[in-house]
Amino acid sequence: MSDHLTIVNHPLVQHKLTLMREKSTSTAVFRQLLREISHLLAYEVTRDLPMTTTNIDTPLVEMDAPTLKGKKLALISILRAGNGLLDGVMDLIPSARVGFVGLYRDEETLKPVQYYYKVPGEMGSRVVIAVDPMLATGNSSAAAIDLLKESGATDIRFLCLLASPEGVALMKERHPDVPIITAALDERLNELGYILPGLGDAGDRMFGTK
Ligand code: URA
Repeated sequence: MSDHLTIVNHPLVQHKLTLMREKSTSTAVFRQLLREISHLLAYEVTRDLPMTTTNIDTPLVEMDAPTLKGKKLALISILRAGNGLLDGVMDLIPSARVGFVGLYRDEETLKPVQYYYKVPGEMGSRVVIAVDPMLATGNSSAAAIDLLKESGATDIRFLCLLASPEGVALMKERHPDVPIITAALDERLNELGYILPGLGDAGDRMFGTK
């Protein structure tokens, strides 16, 4: 992947996203929509995976048939909202290895601090897809990518539902080699770091917390 930002402008993605933005959408429906939309986003983020062929026997003949090449993918959920996207991506890539990155923001330094980190081995030989629904300030996303690179990852893609121009700019500055795939690029952040028009707090909406 080379283009830094891909907006998945598919009618189904855009329709489902509108339903997710609406504040009266229930937790159960929000979750279901997120799962459906993540299938469509997963399709897009894996569009250029390397392929090879394998020799198989159909009931009629032998053939060299296409298969994915290389080590199993690594899906990395940036906690906690990443888990909502992760489920749907795993539906499409069930054999992927899965890792988790937990970061919180230190209220004094405002810098992301790691509280959990567990990723698959051999990260340098895998296509790595980091998932987090909201690319807002970009601080935690960029810090998570730093950690994945420290673990040896070289082919990383960042998959989100909504991105802000501020978050995209920060990621481009810190990680120009990491393409971003998103359903929409929204207008801006508000003073609290929420994406506008956005959909609110993605974690709260998918887990029913407040
Ligand atoms: N995280 C969210 O869940 N929502 C936003 O709007 C920004 C960050």
